[in-house]
Amino acid sequence: MQRVLITGAAGGIGGRLRQTLRGRYPILRLSDVKPLGEAGLGEAGPGEEIDRTDLGDLAAVERMMDGVDGVVHLGAVSSEDSWENILEANIVGAYNVFEAARRRNVERVVFATTNHVVGFYRRDRRLDNAAVPRPDSRYGVSKAFGEALGAFYADKFGLRVLCIRIGNVADKPVDKRRLSIWISPRDMTQLVRIGLEHPALHFEIVYGVSNNVRSWWDDPAARRLGYRPRDRAEDYAAEVLRAEAGRPVDEIAELFQGGPFAAHEFDGDLDRL
Ligand SMILES: NC(=O)c1ccc[n+]([C@@H]2O[C@H](COP(=O)([O-])OP(=O)(O)OC[C@H]3O[C@@H](n4cnc5c(N)ncnc54)[C@H](O)[C@@H]3O)[C@@H](O)[C@H]2O)c1
Repeated sequence: MQRVLITGAAGGIGGRLRQTLRGRYPILRLSDVKPLGEAGLGEAGPGEEIDRTDLGDLAAVERMMDGVDGVVHLGAVSSEDSWENILEANIVGAYNVFEAARRRNVERVVFATTNHVVGFYRRDRRLDNAAVPRPDSRYGVSKAFGEALGAFYADKFGLRVLCIRIGNVADKPVDKRRLSIWISPRDMTQLVRIGLEHPALHFEIVYGVSNNVRSWWDDPAARRLGYRPRDRAEDYAAEVLRAEAGRPVDEIAELFQGGPFAAHEFDGDLDRL
């Protein structure tokens, strides 16, 4: 991997990976429609290239892939939104990234998918890598589409693809739900590096989660690829639960893995689920 492209590089995860992947690969090409200058300077640091491509423009996305060996595709609308916004950024944008990668002979794509692909599973269900999507939002549906694109481009054209169903990336878990789904920035970095470097990768969907005893996911695929998370949400459990005690609870959100995403717009008929 000489040149690694990070889309959505101005976002929360992109900003972290910009730091943790610095020096791992000779060149990081950082792309976003939002300003990317380090410390607001608008300039690339050492080993960095800045790119301002809109993911909706296939010809521009193809140019952005020039000389790229691996892509970390983070650029997206990263929460529930209108269909029009999700369609353009997450559906058309993901297609453009995979198709442009194929056209420019890029070897690998690491795709940032989400736990909201499986957000309508109840919390008492333990899921593995074969779980059929049960999206809790248009956002979750769009990421299931991205996972399917990844499988298609891997099987038909030989791209090496890792889809990471990310729980929540943050310095520490901030509430009870995140005690199950949190992933530390360094564990997230480890998974991204597996996607960029593992010699036997073809196509996998893994869960982006740290070593959490409350996790809802069993992940033999990540283990097989060598993922060994170093951080544990449980180290923060007492603090998190103390802070949350006495706060009002949304009983629908509590039932489902997707939490508030599942409760949002839900008609309340639990009998069918
Ligand atoms: N943060 C999490 O814990 C989490 C959890 C699950 C999944 N994810 C996924 O990981 C990725 C990164 O998450 P994040 O929290 O950094 O999101 P973010 O919203 O902070 O960053 C996403 C970036 O994508 C860019 N973007 C959106 N549309 C674009 C377009 N058309 N062209 C170019 N750039 C565009 C935005 O400008 C933004 O900077 C997203 O795909 C998100 O869905 C994140």
